[in-house]
Amino acid sequence: MKILIATTNKGKLKEFKALLSEINVETLSLDDMEEKIEVEEDKKTFLENAIKKAKEYANFYKLPVIAEDAGLEVEALNNYPGVYSARFYDIDFGGKEEVLTNKDEANIKKLLRLLQGEKNRKARFVSTVVFYFPDDFGLWTEGYCYGTIAEEPKGEKGFGYDPIFIPESYNKTMAEISPEEKNKISHRGKAVRKLIEKLKKVL
Ligand code: IMP
Repeated sequence: MKILIATTNKGKLKEFKALLSEINVETLSLDDMEEKIEVEEDKKTFLENAIKKAKEYANFYKLPVIAEDAGLEVEALNNYPGVYSARFYDIDFGGKEEVLTNKDEANIKKLLRLLQGEKNRKARFVSTVVFYFPDDFGLWTEGYCYGTIAEEPKGEKGFGYDPIFIPESYNKTMAEISPEEKNKISHRGKAVRKLIEKLKKVL
């Protein structure tokens, strides 16, 4: 079976492909699709955004789709950046941040600026994953990874906020651990493993 992973984010895609390698599916990404469509992530929750993406891509490409909306929730920032994680640098919350090299770096810079002097550095990554089979059925799962925000970025692996996220019971950042280890403990790993269990029952 072919499944379209509805993302163009290379970091996410690599993780999805590794996580789904234990079931017999062929994975495609949006970059493999000749005709492009834009789906705006304009909802207030991870679940609504993931459902919107899954349905619109599945109906357009006539393929089963896995869509994810993920992000980082920081306790001291009222759970921001949340659904705005990908474009936090540019939203009207604590001032905008200029993109000097790339968006991930600008997002991290803004988050560290907002947390300067803050003692409560508790945070969690959230991954909400939706599988949608056109005109048939849909299901969703969610995974969390709890941790704290570091004082400065460290590590070159992973993507997004990984260089400043220290998972619970670790003394290094998510960008300092191997991709295999990240998949074992990550929000995405947990959500995808739950999804696989559900899919095994219905497919
Ligand atoms: P999405 O593409 O709307 O789901 O945006 C997710 C954003 O949340 C990414 O651009 C990252 O900034 C952040 N994010 C989600 N998952 C991770 C992760 O596993 N590590 C680091 N950052 C992540």
